[in-house]
Amino acid sequence: MKKHNFSAGPSILPQSVLLKASEAVMDLDNSGLSLIEISHRSKAFVDIMENARSLALELLGLEGKGYKALFLQGGASTQFLMVALNLLEKRAGYINSGTWADKAIKEAKIYDDIYELGSSKEANYNYIPKGYDIPEDYDYFHCTSNNTIFGTQMKEFPNSPIPMVCDMSSDIFSRTLDFSKFDLIYAGAQKNMGPAGTTLVIVKEDILGKVSRKIPSMMDYKKHIGSGSMFNTPPVFPVYTSMLTLEWLKGLGGIAAIEKENEKKARLMYSEIDLNPLFKGFAVKEDRSNMNATFTLENENLKDTFETMLKEAGVEGLNGHRSVGGYRASMYNALPLDSVKVVVEIMSELESKA
Ligand SMILES: Cc1ncc(COP(=O)(O)O)c(C=O)c1O
Repeated sequence: MKKHNFSAGPSILPQSVLLKASEAVMDLDNSGLSLIEISHRSKAFVDIMENARSLALELLGLEGKGYKALFLQGGASTQFLMVALNLLEKRAGYINSGTWADKAIKEAKIYDDIYELGSSKEANYNYIPKGYDIPEDYDYFHCTSNNTIFGTQMKEFPNSPIPMVCDMSSDIFSRTLDFSKFDLIYAGAQKNMGPAGTTLVIVKEDILGKVSRKIPSMMDYKKHIGSGSMFNTPPVFPVYTSMLTLEWLKGLGGIAAIEKENEKKARLMYSEIDLNPLFKGFAVKEDRSNMNATFTLENENLKDTFETMLKEAGVEGLNGHRSVGGYRASMYNALPLDSVKVVVEIMSELESKA
């Protein structure tokens, strides 16, 4: 039986994508060869890479606007330093809205001055910092659109006078935004796009080439752009699977269509958290994430009963991150509304039992 997969990442992918990806591992488009045994320089794979890159730009509405899409390796964590290596000359401003933002700051600090323009660390990151100014003489501004661990999400983005960089690892392709406000977006594939092993980077070409340092080739966005995102052997399986997910999303009607579904799931989940006296939401209401809902069970005595009920219903991955505790329902694009209904019904049944 397929489980209700609430895992925070790697996480649920559409069933049709998993099926096609597994078929391609055996035989790619009746070629008599596996996807993972052909040359990445073959026409078949070059077409896959190009299709994936252009689908990413198309879905974000960034085609023909001076952006390039790259499928890189090393996870979003490598982007923490790659962003700094490529863009940081003197100083940059960061928003410290969670563990991942904090890590991004630490990596960039290796190279130069990093200023925290806002932080919610003192409140264990249960809200999104607001009301900050972005200095015009900084090299770039960095934010995290969705804080996977704490379940907070930026609802508005500043009009930045300097290049705006955003870690969208856990909510890319989930909601409509004016993506042209951003100059560099990065996202690990393993939440809304594909398996772990590739990271999507969308970069506006005109922000590159402005730093004086020498950049090692594998860390240099320009080198990756120049070689069509194939500077070295790309992660063929994650790229192919990401391409399939992007095709799936396009077939559904794109980001605007999935956004409606994501809103329905989040509304259902949060209304149960708010109405049911046994549960308490972690993030402040106005900053709640539509991707990751974090909450605690107020009565510890009911923990075993609740978790047994979840297990019996085939609910997986609902445990919270150790820095928040409690539970976290990750409701990425491929998670069906019915899975949320199952959890919500269990929560309300628990209330009637209590
Ligand atoms: C918002 C965010 N940024 C960065 C990362 C780190 O990604 P990776 O494991 O691909 O380096 C994660 C991982 O969950 C994340 O949620």
